[in-house]
Amino acid sequence: MRFLVVNGPNLNLLGKREPAHYGRKTLEEIKALLEEQARELKVELAFFQSNSEGAIVDFLQAQAPRADGIIINPGALTHYGLSLRDALAATGLPVVEVHLSNIYAREDWRHHSVMAPVAQGQITGLGWRGYLLALEYLAKEEKKSG
Ligand code: DQA
Repeated sequence: MRFLVVNGPNLNLLGKREPAHYGRKTLEEIKALLEEQARELKVELAFFQSNSEGAIVDFLQAQAPRADGIIINPGALTHYGLSLRDALAATGLPVVEVHLSNIYAREDWRHHSVMAPVAQGQITGLGWRGYLLALEYLAKEEKKSG
């Protein structure tokens, strides 16, 4: 079983970017925690981060045929990234949308996600733990159905 873990624009800056919203863990630290959990769950992960929507679309098109689900924090693309939304839908895979901060407790423009309708569910506001919860969900669901 193999899951894609995708992070969008500015998430490469985690650790130093607005820690009051996004916490102090770097993306590398979150990746290490996910890898540890993946070992326990006996699943494989493929990580990708880009500041460019097109690069994420290319990654999804290339990797989805060899994947069982997607964990994605689309960053600001969440709110307007329609080609990313379409790319997620095209994979036909279960998608869990993750946000470190609670997007509903922030500016109005963050309250709307164009990804939400094509996601199985959304985890928002639980910090880095949201990624681990998403992985646990996908791995257990896939094992149940597979
Ligand atoms: C975010 C929330 C988005 O509104 C923002 O643009 C981000 C990060 C989060 O993880 O809380 O870049 O997706």
